[in-house]
Amino acid sequence: MKFLTVVGARPQFIKAAVVSRAVRSRIAASTDGSLREVLVHTGQHYDASMSQVFFDELDIPKPDHHLGVGSGSHGAQTGAMLERLESVILQEKPDIVLVYGDTNSTLAGALAAAKLHVPVAHVEAGLRSFNRRMPEELNRVMTDHLSTLLFCPTQTAIENLRAEGLPHARRAEVNVIRTGDVMFDAALFYGARADGRPLPSGFNGLHGKDFILATIHRAENTDDPVALGRLLEALEQIGERLMPVVWPVHPRTRHLMERHETLRSICSRAQHLRMVEPLGYLDMVVAERRARLVLTDSGGVQKEAFFHGKPCVTMRTETEWVELIDAGWNVIAGTEPEAIMTAVEKMLNTYLDPAKQPPLYGDGHAGEAILETLVAWAK
Ligand code: UD1
Ligand code: UDP
Repeated sequence: MKFLTVVGARPQFIKAAVVSRAVRSRIAASTDGSLREVLVHTGQHYDASMSQVFFDELDIPKPDHHLGVGSGSHGAQTGAMLERLESVILQEKPDIVLVYGDTNSTLAGALAAAKLHVPVAHVEAGLRSFNRRMPEELNRVMTDHLSTLLFCPTQTAIENLRAEGLPHARRAEVNVIRTGDVMFDAALFYGARADGRPLPSGFNGLHGKDFILATIHRAENTDDPVALGRLLEALEQIGERLMPVVWPVHPRTRHLMERHETLRSICSRAQHLRMVEPLGYLDMVVAERRARLVLTDSGGVQKEAFFHGKPCVTMRTETEWVELIDAGWNVIAGTEPEAIMTAVEKMLNTYLDPAKQPPLYGDGHAGEAILETLVAWAK
């Protein structure tokens, strides 16, 4: 069986690393040579710190095709990917196309394949924020409805798909499978490589001290300089009143700051908010494990806080990972500075026992479960 994997953005490299590792160990154990993965990088993320570092640290094979699409508006970026992916799919003739998550690369991969009548498998299917202003929500909904195999990380995801009529009674080929979450597999397997690793250099002076780890890149928080400015003021206040905040800055956010003097001025005045370059995966794991609390608008980082036993405050008005809220490990604070401060204080004063975490994201073998399903499907 030949399957073609489409990746392009930071979180997809991490997710694809898990399945790719399962593929390589299956190929090594078999003699018939019938399994083959073709890896396609759309080029959506291209800075070394947003792409190459993950290939190096997570042993992801060099992509068979690099489409070099780069940045652009949604239409321009997705359109360029569609055109280039179509050629690659026609050339490679895979049995199935595998896509991850909810980025423009995900949608382009799913749409290009479906239009060529190549089945699509979606890893991280069924996630919903129910906020159609999020580009990711549109990408997810469309990808799920284009897919033949829907690999769901959680029971909530299964229920979300059921509410949208998936699996479909009249489309017998569509299959919804609960596999667990490949990001949990990654946290266990690749996280072990971070054992004993020191905090990265941007964290100098914080060894043995409490700090909060922050990330911000969601469009709703970074498109408007006023909204981002309020968040930065909130982080600085939290840093001053509670403990230092360290913030690996996503290039999207950095570009907005470069364009607006008010944002640059907030950052240059900040004494308790420390900006650092985007971290590699292993450095990020170390930072998450050492942090006292995680403050984020990222999807993946919300879960990693939980995997590494840290409370999380989410700077959004909703989350797809609702089970973390129900379990008490994550709080939706919204984006108002006072509400964020209150949520952080509350979470710092709440005792959460990592030993009593519910098993929300599977058994750490989602990658193998996905591969087994793909192989069985191809027979
Ligand atoms: C994308 C995904 C988002 C995901 C995030 C992971 C979409 C619609 N969004 O958001 O779901 O959570 O990736 O990080 O697909 N840039 C660089 N260097 C890079 C990459 C980006 O400078 O290597 C800058 C460019 O100015 C670019 C901007 O960041 O315009 C945004 O990049 P883009 O890939 O369009 O969206 P993300 O915000 O990264
Ligand atoms: N991540 C990283 N370095 C950073 C910030 C995030 O390695 O500086 C990792 C993080 O550990 C997680 C993934 O990137 O595995 C999450 O990606 P991101 O927040 O960019 O996107 P989202 O999950 O919101 O789609």
